[in-house]
Amino acid sequence: MITDVRSTAHMPACRVCGQPVREFFDFGRQPVSDAFRDPTDSSAEFYYDLAVGACGGCAMVQQSYEVPRARMFHAEYPYRSSGSAFMRKHFEAFAHHLLDTELAVPDPFVVEIGSNDGVMLRTIAHAGVRHLGVEPSGGAADAARAHGVRVLTEFFQEDSAGRVRTEDGPADVIFSANTVSHIARLDSIFRGVDALLAPDGVFVVEDRYLGDIVDSTAFDQIYDEHFYLFSVESVRNVSRRFGFDLVDITRLPVHGGTIRFTIARAGARPVAPAVDELLAGERARGLAEHRTLDRFAVGTRQARTELVDLLRRLRDQGRTVVGYGATAKSATVTNYCGIGPDLVPYICDSTPAKHGKLAPGSGIPVRPSDAFADPYPDYALLFAWNHAEEIMAKEHRFAAAGGRWIRYVPRVHIV
Ligand code: SAH
Ligand code: TYD
Ligand code: ZN
Repeated sequence: MITDVRSTAHMPACRVCGQPVREFFDFGRQPVSDAFRDPTDSSAEFYYDLAVGACGGCAMVQQSYEVPRARMFHAEYPYRSSGSAFMRKHFEAFAHHLLDTELAVPDPFVVEIGSNDGVMLRTIAHAGVRHLGVEPSGGAADAARAHGVRVLTEFFQEDSAGRVRTEDGPADVIFSANTVSHIARLDSIFRGVDALLAPDGVFVVEDRYLGDIVDSTAFDQIYDEHFYLFSVESVRNVSRRFGFDLVDITRLPVHGGTIRFTIARAGARPVAPAVDELLAGERARGLAEHRTLDRFAVGTRQARTELVDLLRRLRDQGRTVVGYGATAKSATVTNYCGIGPDLVPYICDSTPAKHGKLAPGSGIPVRPSDAFADPYPDYALLFAWNHAEEIMAKEHRFAAAGGRWIRYVPRVHIV
């Protein structure tokens, strides 16, 4: 029998429906995951309490505390979607799919929420199709503009969406990848979509899937930006609440397990059988139920113990371990597990904006990718495990030179 005092003691109200949320994990104090710091910056880091729970009313899995959005998304926000060739191909293929289907209408118009560096919209722009990215992080928005993408540097919400509707007319498609889950005020998103979407338009949302996170004990998918962890049941419920239907789903093998949710105005489109099939599967396995989420909590604690034991053992044996990929996810791993520069002296990463900075909380320095081979460490801790295929192929010389990869999803192991 698993007991967790906090889970019954702390029952916040659901951000979607107001019913009690039962916490199933508390990671403790965590820094802002993408707040890489200048080594000369001596100001205090911002911390918040990272705890997650499931709503008993609408099944939405969510965090208990909200980091103010301007602390996460601003001109210096360092994440760039185009850092992965695999993701570039993924979004290019989806853009072509949209051009061939939903956008194959007279004078089409597509809006993207959280367009980042234009990884998806650049293909739309090259095709000469009317589009608009809504992206509050100025550096990312400028990177998209350099690719010919039209961007509004604002948060998408009811008023900004209303202005877009007035100036550009209704959108045939509103697309958003890995962003809707970041927005605690989901009502502002749905009201904005309601203001902007054409009567027969679709709102397509791609985000991490709770089912995959639970199955692989991917505890590092939980950090400030991932305020919600979506399931078919919770997305269907929140859609209904705001006058929409979840009409289709597609599971995708990106970012360790993603679902593309297609949402339309209530009654506007038939519901595909895939929705009810996966919904039945979620209910049969009790995806949002205590027993399932408590098992995830046990697996998370076990991963921490095993990972820290392994890193200490290697250090004591005089082996070198370097981190690969200064991901936002790694902030949860390092800060929850207590991994600092004594166990992982630096992290190699391809993102220029992260170079020469210190990873949040842990203070582990970030170096450019070419530092990896200079010299190769004995072991590389793969923080960007969702890009494993791409990275291991790129770094094949590391394994050829006798280097070993350490992974912790779905369990701690050496490859
Ligand atoms: N769509 C890209 C980027 C995901 S990162 C991809 O899938 O790779 C999340 C992005 O959402 C960031 O660029 C962030 O600045 C942006 N964002 C956060 N809140 C937003 C909001 N309310 N409206 C629009 N974009 C937002
Ligand atoms: P990602 O896993 O996409 O997201 P998150 O930060 O939300 O967890 O981040 C991938 C990180 O890994 C990003 O900082 C870039 C880096 N990276 C490399 O250094 N080399 C690579 O080949 C790839 C694909 C990513
Ligand atoms: Zn709820």
